[in-house]
Amino acid sequence: MNLESILFSQGFGTRRQCRGLIAGARVAVAGETCTDPLAVFDTAGLVFSVDGAPWPFHERAYLALNKPAGYECSRDPQHHLSVFHLLPPQFAERNVQCVGRLDQDTTGLLLLSDDGQFVHAFTSPRRKVPKIYVATTRHPLDETQLQALRDGVLLHGERVPSVALAASARGERELELSVLEGKYHQVKRMVAAAGNRVEALHRERIGGYALPDDLAPGAWRWLDAAALGALSTPG
Ligand code: URA
Repeated sequence: MNLESILFSQGFGTRRQCRGLIAGARVAVAGETCTDPLAVFDTAGLVFSVDGAPWPFHERAYLALNKPAGYECSRDPQHHLSVFHLLPPQFAERNVQCVGRLDQDTTGLLLLSDDGQFVHAFTSPRRKVPKIYVATTRHPLDETQLQALRDGVLLHGERVPSVALAASARGERELELSVLEGKYHQVKRMVAAAGNRVEALHRERIGGYALPDDLAPGAWRWLDAAALGALSTPG
């Protein structure tokens, strides 16, 4: 692929802007500045740099973000910053989207991708991948609430009960909940229907992929093939 197309595909602006970066001697490949937009490179394993900052070529972006509280998943947020403020602008430029949404005040594992099929497949109600949340509750948990979550609770406006794959107490007011669906405010509504209230919510895992311990709040990373495979396993 030629250098202009490489930069363009990775979200470094319009074709004209990419040509400008190259002509301005701001792009290097394998440590050598390249000023020819038509120079061809093998993209497999390619790492180029723009203004000295390395960028590994990825045909498609699959990312994990440790979402902090106070960020909206929307690109055009109403009341808070967008999670896109936590990512390099190249990702918004190449139309990376959130794979499902977390509420503004929910923290933890958020996936993002520019692979439309992946986003669609992963957010489809038919895709049965468990998501594991840890909720801090206002009131102490009891077995009646946990059993209600496992048996299924009817949410306002729904005909079919929402069932937790698993629900257990990690502490007096700390609930671990595994759900398959991803409806609007799903966990908060389920916990409310079971007679308690969520005060804080954190997503710890999707399928077999856990939020990495070394991914600080606000930090992101590329997902490799192993991580992508783990996402689709029951966990
Ligand atoms: N359930 C919720 O209530 N909120 C989230 O952000 C995710 C799941």
